[in-house]
Amino acid sequence: MSISIGIHDLSFATTEFVLPHTALAEYNGTEIGKYHVGIGQQSMSVPAADEDIVTMAATAARPIIERNGKSRIRTVVFATESSIDQAKAGGVYVHSLLGLESACRVVELKQACYGATAALQFAIGLVRRDPAQQVLVIASDVSKYELDSPGEATQGAAAVAMLVGADPALLRIEEPSGLFTADVMDFWRPNYLTTALVDGQESINAYLQAVEGAWKDYAEQDGRSLEEFAAFVYHQPFTKMAYKAHRHLLNFNGYDTDKDAIEGALGQTTAYNNVIGNSYTASVYLGLAALLDQADDLTGRSIGFLSYGSGSVAEFFSGTVVAGYRERLRTEANQEAIARRKSVDYATYRELHEYTLPSDGGDHATPVQTTGPFRLAGINDHKRIYEAR
Ligand code: HMG
Repeated sequence: MSISIGIHDLSFATTEFVLPHTALAEYNGTEIGKYHVGIGQQSMSVPAADEDIVTMAATAARPIIERNGKSRIRTVVFATESSIDQAKAGGVYVHSLLGLESACRVVELKQACYGATAALQFAIGLVRRDPAQQVLVIASDVSKYELDSPGEATQGAAAVAMLVGADPALLRIEEPSGLFTADVMDFWRPNYLTTALVDGQESINAYLQAVEGAWKDYAEQDGRSLEEFAAFVYHQPFTKMAYKAHRHLLNFNGYDTDKDAIEGALGQTTAYNNVIGNSYTASVYLGLAALLDQADDLTGRSIGFLSYGSGSVAEFFSGTVVAGYRERLRTEANQEAIARRKSVDYATYRELHEYTLPSDGGDHATPVQTTGPFRLAGINDHKRIYEAR
């Protein structure tokens, strides 16, 4: 009998600050309907000067360690496209902040927003080899576009931590996967830039092509039929994109694109992304958290996932919700992670956007702005200094 492997626990964290889209619209003269309805975003998470992908990742993962212990975790896979170092994996700092065992492999993975799904699949492979082991998969990103660019309204930041193991308490991940890769320049960030470059319309088209390609392969691999899914969780650079993608998938399969049916299939997956913004690798798993936290009992139901990363790579796969999952949800903590953010005005957001860590190799303390359990205390001799509170 094949063993059941999947997501045993899931926890997320986001930033100290939040910018409502009303403040951005007031500043740049955009009709608010374009943000609230056109792209489907209410607000976006904004990192403080003393937080980054490591502090968010450690904050997301700490409750998982507190609940499940650390003795079975022999691998940490850290997926990000907003890496803080060209050599050292961000996960090594997290490993240290959480006091994980030294008998552990830690690695960083990248392919735009798709990276966390690769991490999840690699984790499943490791658990299949030794079901006694667990893998900590972390997706952590800060989405940053140039000020005053069309992409600015689709920024955000968050980290999702998932414990992957045998006999999972939340979601069993199934085979097959539908896979798709195409070499397109829809969105990228050269090493010398701090903000991403994007061809907005091209990126939407590339995403839709990838949905089609991944689904086609999924069907060819004898995957489930569309009717079998209780819900669909898409990567959400902005929540409206999930609707575009699902409509495209239905059209491709010759189905009606009934508005209410589409809302029923994915409306509940958008609640967290709608107020957090694009969290790149974390986005699709924030969609899962929102669905599990809000839906009526999904026990035994299948969920379809479409993970997309510009450039581009996509994967369609399914998961089945496990009996008893509701007792393991972190709904209150998830809602608190969002509600605790402090709203900033446009001028403060702009200052934070322009803030960069000094690169002169000196000893610099970062301003104390965060109130969470971990902070980036400063930089000294080109080394980031983190502290736990
Ligand atoms: P834009 O040019 O500012 O906006 O760019 P627009 O003119 O296309 O308008 C957006 C929507 O608002 C349109 O709806 C308008 O009609 C509507 P649509 O035609 O798309 O259905 N609209 C209104 N609706 C109601 N009331 C109004 C109103 N006015 C207009 N008053 C764009 C938008 C998303 C392109 C831009 O923000 C951008 O470039 N964002 C970054 C790129 C992006 O997110 N791409 C998504 C696909 S790629 C992806 O998902 C990967 C990614 O996450 C990166 C990774 O993988 O690492 C980005």
